[in-house]
Amino acid sequence: MGKSIAVCAPLVGDVEEKLAQKFDLRLHRGPALEDEDAVAGFIQDAEGAITLLFNPVGRKVLDSCRNLRVVANCAVGFDNIDLEAARQSNIWVTNTPDVLTDATADLTFGLILAVTRRMVEGDVFLRAGRFDGWKLDMLLGRGLQGKTLGIIGFGRIGRAVAKRALGFGLRVLWTDTTSDIEHDLEGEFVELDELLGRSDIVSLHCPLTESNRHLLGEERLRMLPRGAFVINTARGPLIDEGSLAMLLEEGVLGGAGLDVYEREPEVERSLLDRSDVVLQPHIGSATVETRIAMADLAARNLTDVLEGRRPPTPIVVPNEGR
Ligand code: GLV
Repeated sequence: MGKSIAVCAPLVGDVEEKLAQKFDLRLHRGPALEDEDAVAGFIQDAEGAITLLFNPVGRKVLDSCRNLRVVANCAVGFDNIDLEAARQSNIWVTNTPDVLTDATADLTFGLILAVTRRMVEGDVFLRAGRFDGWKLDMLLGRGLQGKTLGIIGFGRIGRAVAKRALGFGLRVLWTDTTSDIEHDLEGEFVELDELLGRSDIVSLHCPLTESNRHLLGEERLRMLPRGAFVINTARGPLIDEGSLAMLLEEGVLGGAGLDVYEREPEVERSLLDRSDVVLQPHIGSATVETRIAMADLAARNLTDVLEGRRPPTPIVVPNEGR
């Protein structure tokens, strides 16, 4: 009998069959495992687990799943996992970077275009039978050329968004506290408050951590120029959704394009009725190619640990730095 592994939700592609050839695989189907008791109850004595971003893995899970050696998150974000608890329990944690960079940057750009060019409004308008002839002043949006895009978090996805933005004639500003990766993108590093003061569009691309919840609260959102657009394909709690809705209502902001929400899958009610907001159901990485690549990478991470190799994309390495 192979080692026991738990896959906390169905994956895309044929990765489960491949894993089942090596391991004794348990796959969760049905309602999402959204609290620690449910996650722990499913993982039980498995040595490896593949988790998704809605599966919380905290101290409770790590303490009760005594055989667990690796948590392979099938996502680039890992705010669902208590990294310190994993370090203390000597458990590998891995994620799926790189493979979803372009898909997420593409969706970000889709949201920028959809919201500035009122594309969803146009679709609704036409389907409602209101398109009765071409007019010069019909559904006027905002152009991008010569405007400024402020990118908060200049990691892989932030830089991929910058690359696209430069092709659209946008000027790019960015801010980042951690990334020092080399790049040859034209633009300017500035502090967050300056970025907000100068950006016609601001887009979030930083990970959610203990310290940046509500990074964009009312005060910071008010620093944006009047009529600015806010885009979020990172994590919902980075923005105070209530303040965002209020500033849209006041006309201080020009619109928003959101793929992630503060209390997913719930969405601030007042946003649902707004035509200046484009909302997507957290589909940043949702292409067939990308989801297969994410599943493959998560499986490779898990397999490598259980077969005694270093996994390709670790976040927590047991005993490192001790
Ligand atoms: C999606 O949100 C991810 O973190 O991969």
